[in-house]
Amino acid sequence: MTRLNLAILISGRGSNMEALLKAAAAADYPAKPVLVLANRPDAKGLETAMGAGIPALAIDHKPFGKDREAFERAMDEALTEAGTEIIALAGFMRVLTPWFVEKWQGRMINIHPSLLPKYKGLDTHQRALDAGDVEAGATVHWVSPGVDDGEIIQQASLPILPGDTADSLAARLLPVEHQLYPEALAKACALVSART
Ligand code: GRF
Repeated sequence: MTRLNLAILISGRGSNMEALLKAAAAADYPAKPVLVLANRPDAKGLETAMGAGIPALAIDHKPFGKDREAFERAMDEALTEAGTEIIALAGFMRVLTPWFVEKWQGRMINIHPSLLPKYKGLDTHQRALDAGDVEAGATVHWVSPGVDDGEIIQQASLPILPGDTADSLAARLLPVEHQLYPEALAKACALVSART
């Protein structure tokens, strides 16, 4: 079985990254983590990755100022050096330029905490509550130039309960995301491997 070299991009806590690392600890999982990359040196997930023995690196976006492409070129260099074949964005809070997205298109996926195409962008849980939705969920999708706009790979949903707040909904959704993302990444790997 082919195991694709996986890089995970994070900005903070990294609980979805941890779920991917746990799944990938199995020898028969179709992705092998080669790098965890954060755009913030204080991202908590970096410690978790290092604790799991995965190479972890911060490339701070701040010194690059408004030159988003220069920041991405630095990321791209680290990704290429690590032999990356597939990228999973896991709470990576930077919008990517068309240059980077096109370079990795078809090899980069993201998890978004809503049932896309509903609620692209931020504050997804509050927006679902404000709309009076009866269910919420998460989506794993291919990354395309539009924000949270790429083709859907897999979704998982859960009911919104009376009295739910954005926080309670986010907390109940998180374990659902942790189950969804490894499954969806495995699917994405199969599609990438079939193509090459
Ligand atoms: C998750 O809710 C994910 O869906 C969204 O950002 C959050 C990241 O959480 N894209 P974590 O860093 O994986 O714990």
